Amino acid sequence: MANNNKGLGSAKVNKKDEFYTQLTDIANELEHYKDHFRGKTVLCNCDDPRVSNFFQYFALKFETLGLKKLITTCYKNQEMDLFSENKSERAIYLVYEGDKNGNGVPDPEEIGIKQLQGNGDFRSKECIELLKEADIVVTNPPFSLFREYVATLVKYDKKFIIIGHQNAIKYKEIFPLFQQNKMWLGYGFKGGAAYFISRYDDKAVAGEHREGMIRVSGVVWFTNLPIQKRNEELILTATYSPEKYPKYANYDAIDVEKTNLIPLNYDGLMGVPITYLNQYNPDQFEIIGNTCDTSWCRANGVGRMGEATIAQLRKQGNKAHVTANMNSLYLVKDGLVSLPYARIIIRKKQK
Ligand SMILES: C[S@@+](CC[C@H](N)C(=O)[O-])C[C@H]1O[C@@H](n2cnc3c(N)ncnc32)[C@H](O)[C@@H]1O
Repeated sequence: MANNNKGLGSAKVNKKDEFYTQLTDIANELEHYKDHFRGKTVLCNCDDPRVSNFFQYFALKFETLGLKKLITTCYKNQEMDLFSENKSERAIYLVYEGDKNGNGVPDPEEIGIKQLQGNGDFRSKECIELLKEADIVVTNPPFSLFREYVATLVKYDKKFIIIGHQNAIKYKEIFPLFQQNKMWLGYGFKGGAAYFISRYDDKAVAGEHREGMIRVSGVVWFTNLPIQKRNEELILTATYSPEKYPKYANYDAIDVEKTNLIPLNYDGLMGVPITYLNQYNPDQFEIIGNTCDTSWCRANGVGRMGEATIAQLRKQGNKAHVTANMNSLYLVKDGLVSLPYARIIIRKKQK
């Protein structure tokens, strides 16, 4: 789950929603969830079936997975610069209930194409009715509406496997779901970056560019379906010492720079990178809080940075967007102030 700056980062993809998931990426992730689909209705609710590989995947795998029904709704885009060849048409939805003529493939006459009254917005009343009918929602939703999208799934108590950006973990609406074990990370994309089919300009460096694709770093799968990796314990090999693991100057927790450096013999609070969640097993650690959420920090004893700390930071030439009143974690070593990257607070699960 590396997050380098090559390709499109979260800020850009959060504003641009028209990019399409490759069939191989869908297949690679869904391979781990095969047992969940038998007898289930799957909804892909941000998916124009004419271009969506999610529809393609489930239609082709319908019998193998033992699905009951596949529903796919398409969103009628109003913007000018998008793929939407279908701009003048109304939004549609498709219902597929499996191969009827025994040829093993989804034929056009077996796929029911129905008109939607509205524009196919996942929040619209008619799409919510389809959502209610579904057991599992699987898609790559618009990143720009990720908070609302997840809130809708949670409200209707749906199982889901969806793509999003890892930065969304830090959102104050999303993080509690991780904490309460209502959402976790799936298996993910190789190297923490994915290539999506798109007309947007790809900013990937030459060696990483692929024609007709954009490379997006930091994309992950989010789910609330049980998966094997969640039961696997992270093997800890590092040992604690106060020198190697300094405490924050304004919070009683040690700073752990990398997931593979989590010490095996420390029982107190630890600040770890959010990428740790990729290896989170709720029987091994508990998630205490999200230090990117200032209200959590204030309520949980992360002290103010204070004028002297800010003055020292500026003296060191650090221009970070922090002020004296902020309750942001910082470290002090030999009189020098440093700011850790985004941290979540975890603690070894007491057994
Ligand atoms: C990141 S793209 C992914 C498309 C497709 N799910 C895939 O993975 O190939 C997100 C899609 O959501 C659609 N979308 C945007 N706003 C939407 C909304 N309010 N309701 C439903 N779909 C929406 C966009 O038109 C876009 O096609």
